[in-house]
Amino acid sequence: MVWIIGCNGMLGTQVCRTLEENKIEFTGTDSNVSILDYQMLEDFASGKEISCIVNCAAYTAVDKAESDADFARALNADGPRNIARLAKKLGCPLIHISTDYVFDGTASTPISEATPVKPIGVYGNTKAEGEKAISDETSDFYILRTAWLYGFSGKNFVYTMIRAMNSHDSVKVVSDQKGTPTNCETLAGIITKIIEKRLSGAKVSNGIYHVTDLGETTWFDFTNEIKKQALEAGILTNKDCVVNPCSTSEYPTPAKRPAYSVLDKSKIQKELGISIPDWQESLAKFINSPLFDKNRIQ
Ligand SMILES: NC(=O)c1ccc[n+]([C@@H]2O[C@H](COP(=O)([O-])OP(=O)(O)OC[C@H]3O[C@@H](n4cnc5c(N)ncnc54)[C@H](OP(=O)(O)O)[C@@H]3O)[C@@H](O)[C@H]2O)c1
Repeated sequence: MVWIIGCNGMLGTQVCRTLEENKIEFTGTDSNVSILDYQMLEDFASGKEISCIVNCAAYTAVDKAESDADFARALNADGPRNIARLAKKLGCPLIHISTDYVFDGTASTPISEATPVKPIGVYGNTKAEGEKAISDETSDFYILRTAWLYGFSGKNFVYTMIRAMNSHDSVKVVSDQKGTPTNCETLAGIITKIIEKRLSGAKVSNGIYHVTDLGETTWFDFTNEIKKQALEAGILTNKDCVVNPCSTSEYPTPAKRPAYSVLDKSKIQKELGISIPDWQESLAKFINSPLFDKNRIQ
């Protein structure tokens, strides 16, 4: 049985849905079985045949982390260490989610897994510590670094921007940070593929992989695409809302963000023999899905 930790989060919810669609047996826990408590994790696993653990739990409040470093470190580094220790004891693989924020943003071409990490904020730093903690504890791991995630449940940029455009005459969006928006369905599909292969006895090389949708954009251009697709889907009622660009310096936040965080996805595509969709195609899938939550854009 596959164990999804953080099963009620934005990504965790989608991973559970995708496993269910693929008829893979799973169980899920969230804060009720805290990753900070090794004994609690071990007790939960006891008597269950855990074949793979997927960790979607994390401290994800990037700005708040700047003034809450100890708790962020506990959830993003100590928790993953506990999970990795247990995975090793149970003899099962661990799939863990990390982030593009482990990089400093100074690259100008898609970043490969071989690039040394160099975080510029507390969140990225603690996520990098989590990656190291996992590789210290077990060798049977898959660390999937992703970026700019949006999913059906939970707060995310797509819902926020449609809501903002529906209620304002204009919105300002930063145009000097580049990355790749990623539909949780893409990432959950890849997690499921790794699980399917491992459960069938096929080899999937352990290590770090970069997993986002394909292509690159800025938050400003992403917003323009959201506007275009939301209009086509008939869910943007205020079609006259103007989207204006602004610079990062005009919109200061407690945490610094990497200016460029496009990840190179060739390694995961080659390992699994798959092709990942472009971010615009994944956005269309999200906006036009019956699971799109219209209550979140009012
Ligand atoms: N969102 C993004 O744009 C983004 C980008 C790059 C990477 N990532 C990574 O992707 C992963 C999933 O992100 P997400 O946005 O889906 O996160 P999320 O929605 O914030 O979900 C995190 C989940 O972890 C749970 N959790 C918190 N403390 C816990 C504990 N002590 N024990 C067990 N569970 C606990 C939370 O439960 P409560 O709600 O009860 O606290 C929540 O359900 C994370 O590793 C994140 O770092 C996300």
